[in-house]
Amino acid sequence: MKLLVFLGSVRDSTPPKPARLGARVADAILSCLNSRYNDHDIELIDALDYSFDTVFKPHFAYPPSQAPSQLDSLAKKIKQANGYIMVSPEYNHSMSPALAHLLNHFGSSLYSYKPSAIVTYSAGQWGGMRAAVAMRTFLSELGCLPVSSMIHIPKAQDVFTEDGAMQPEQDQTSWFGYFSRTLNQLIWWAEAAKEQRAQVDPHSLIKDFKSAPSERNAP
Ligand SMILES: Cc1cc2nc3c(=O)[nH]c(=O)nc-3n(C[C@H](O)[C@H](O)[C@H](O)COP(=O)(O)O)c2cc1C
Repeated sequence: MKLLVFLGSVRDSTPPKPARLGARVADAILSCLNSRYNDHDIELIDALDYSFDTVFKPHFAYPPSQAPSQLDSLAKKIKQANGYIMVSPEYNHSMSPALAHLLNHFGSSLYSYKPSAIVTYSAGQWGGMRAAVAMRTFLSELGCLPVSSMIHIPKAQDVFTEDGAMQPEQDQTSWFGYFSRTLNQLIWWAEAAKEQRAQVDPHSLIKDFKSAPSERNAP
């Protein structure tokens, strides 16, 4: 399976400390994937690597092959991927605006009929739970259906060191076991979707809308 891990924090300043706690979380998820699922093709997509114009112009608003190359290249990766892992902090009880902004640049037809996994974290005690609930709606609308199991990491600074390793008092096996509940679900669904896609092309069966979402309205 080809899996993309989206890191949704671009906050590289303090306070509050620490900055980019998300980088530690993404590193830990990658390290779990690389140690337990190394037969899969895994790539990190860091929102910090993408700079956009102030005026919002998504990939699908450009004429074919005239989108900026960075946007075009990510569109291809999203289309080719079999599943997505979305790592988000919780800001004011919502998902990361940087992650939402990055994902909004691409049409749902690139993400759809594939699964996603939600990973949230916070410096406080709730592990981004409120952001995670809203992410279910967001990702469902993109068509990359979130698997039921989610990963939430409260007080992530007490769990991971700055380089994404476990703090000495943490038990990596327990944490990777916890991550694997969600990652196993993701990979099961990704494989199932890939097999079914080879049988039936969902886009030929259920047409994507061409110009306005109202094309999906009830008569
Ligand atoms: C604008 C803003 C809003 C925040 N809102 C919440 C919140 O609603 N819930 C929470 O648990 N933590 C909240 N926090 C604290 C974050 O959990 C903490 O800053 C964490 O490090 C953010 O992840 P990041 O460093 O990867 O950006 C907020 C932080 C910021 C900067």
